[in-house]
Amino acid sequence: MSKEENISVLLDEKRVFKPREEFVVQTNVKQWMDKHGIKNADELYEKADNWEWFWEEISKELVEWYEPYSKVVEWNPPYVKWFIGAKYNIVHDALDRHAHSWRKNKVAYIFEGEPGDVKKLTYYDLYIEVNKLANSLKKLGVKKGDRVAIYMPMIPELPIAMLACAKIGAIHSVVFSGFSALAFRDRVNDCEAKVVITCDGFWRRGRKVYLKEQTDVALEDAPSVEHVIVCKRTGDGVPWTPGRDVWWHDLVFDASKECETERLDANDPLFFLYTSGTTGKPKGIIHAHGGYAVGTAYTLKWVFDMKDTDVWWCAADIGWITGHSYIVYAPLILGATSVIYEGAPNYPEPDRWWQIIEKYNVTLLYTSPTSIRLFMKYGEEWVKKHDLSSLRLLGSVGEPINPEAWIWYYKHIGNERCQIMDTWWQTETGHFIISPLPITPLKPGSATKPLPGLAADVYNEQGEPVQNAGGNLVLTHPWPGMLRGIYKNPERYEKTYWSKFKNVYLAGDVARKDEDGYFWVQGRADDVLNVSGHRIGNSEVESALVSHPLVAEAAVIGKPHSLKGEAITAYVVLKKDAAPSEELRKELREHVGNEMGKIARPDEIWFVNDLPKTRSGKIMRRVIRSKALGQDVGDISTLANPEAVKEIARAK
Ligand code: WTA
Repeated sequence: MSKEENISVLLDEKRVFKPREEFVVQTNVKQWMDKHGIKNADELYEKADNWEWFWEEISKELVEWYEPYSKVVEWNPPYVKWFIGAKYNIVHDALDRHAHSWRKNKVAYIFEGEPGDVKKLTYYDLYIEVNKLANSLKKLGVKKGDRVAIYMPMIPELPIAMLACAKIGAIHSVVFSGFSALAFRDRVNDCEAKVVITCDGFWRRGRKVYLKEQTDVALEDAPSVEHVIVCKRTGDGVPWTPGRDVWWHDLVFDASKECETERLDANDPLFFLYTSGTTGKPKGIIHAHGGYAVGTAYTLKWVFDMKDTDVWWCAADIGWITGHSYIVYAPLILGATSVIYEGAPNYPEPDRWWQIIEKYNVTLLYTSPTSIRLFMKYGEEWVKKHDLSSLRLLGSVGEPINPEAWIWYYKHIGNERCQIMDTWWQTETGHFIISPLPITPLKPGSATKPLPGLAADVYNEQGEPVQNAGGNLVLTHPWPGMLRGIYKNPERYEKTYWSKFKNVYLAGDVARKDEDGYFWVQGRADDVLNVSGHRIGNSEVESALVSHPLVAEAAVIGKPHSLKGEAITAYVVLKKDAAPSEELRKELREHVGNEMGKIARPDEIWFVNDLPKTRSGKIMRRVIRSKALGQDVGDISTLANPEAVKEIARAK
């Protein structure tokens, strides 16, 4: 069979992968069903449709309130509150109670740096480090409700910093360390951070990234920032602003090891996390303590069947929601042991990950389709060099997983033994929404169904549920980890998620529901790109391009890419006095890198004289994309400049 035939067969993959019975009987979900006298999966989903009852039951097993709630949920569309009246702090569950239980000396994090250095932190170690930093933050004047911006790589001090903020009721806003200085600046200013926590630098693909220097550039124009806490990672000298900057190790040196956890309202904000939307400005998604704790812990416990004997590796970056929820909060609440790896997956060789799994006996692996495709490219020879028999379950997130990658993952990583949990969710949802349980028969490429207690559907443009047809993915009732809004922008919150259909959350994805009720998520419906599982707004890249002095206009589209899912393709109109050249192309690419971060640099930049627009001047990305991909562009007679469509084909 040729490669093409092979792929088309796989796209028609109709096999259903049933979980092994001996695995099913030992799962957390099966045990919960037995305890509640529930005989089968259908009955479980049905029972959980009574979602207020369900979340009450689930929360009892996962979290400890300081003071009980009076009501499970209050839904005043489009705003929700969970566990009304409860006094709570997520750090109590994530840390305090473990530090005073048998888990005290259990390893919470196994950290491996890219150069190979290893550090293990027990729950008690983590507790002490968090307390010391929390006390130090207080000393710097940080109070409940203040924002702390965190710009750090994948080192254990990152979760420590997040937990220290949460402990005293401050709100953390973590910015992915791969974002540029300017992108960091925008986010610091939007949330008006009082303190920034960063580090000298970190390792990436054998080279050092100088993060403190980037931080300094960001803070040239960030008036709210009073102090910068700098953690030592590489040990290199760093630029220093006396009075503002302080070394983490100096700051915590004589800080007390005990720090009382602030008793908050369960609905107080825990963090902001910026994500891309359809405008040039990222939105600060707000998450709150109580509901988020219940939702994240529940999903990890049930979907990945997390047990005390597991070694969990969520190979995402903590700078994204996946890392917030499934490297920091959920695994800590469940008292798990997690792996944190600092560096690149293929450094120094393409088997670094398999080495890590073998070395630490990782039992649960959670990653993205992009990474799987990268490893596929290197070939299974690299995998075969290692014993991966410790693995029990595998997971995928961030983008639709193509059946070919699914099968490869299943066969070569899971040895046809481990089920694959394809989890659909978003920054806004806080935790998995559509996902199999380890008892669910799987269809490669489908994230299966909304988990018990959660609800999704596919609506046509009229807001009617549709089956076996593409439509808008919606969530039809609130969920515990639901976002609480967009920071300082309630209008955008209402417009983005709640204006298309009344009281129903619009996810922004296109999906299809099949005859068995399985969901097939096809990609974004709005103008958001998904590059290697990272969300990047088309208009953010366009704004970055037009901020270059020689660019007049820009349109950015995504082209299908075999590795990254989508590749960023830009069409650029230059100002009159500028001429296209190879150098300028390179310069524009770097310019976007500086404005946003390397991940947003376009793969292709094309120069054109004009861009197709509507009469009101809106650039028609849809038309550009169709033309660029050689598809039918549809009716373009209503455009202000239909001849510009030809420009796309002629682009150089
Ligand atoms: C996409 C990442 C298909 C989707 C957790 C969503 C997926 C966006 C899947 C959110 C999946 C995430 N199958 N598509 N299993 N998981 N997506 O906010 O388009 O970075 O809307 O959260 O990723 O990206 P975000």
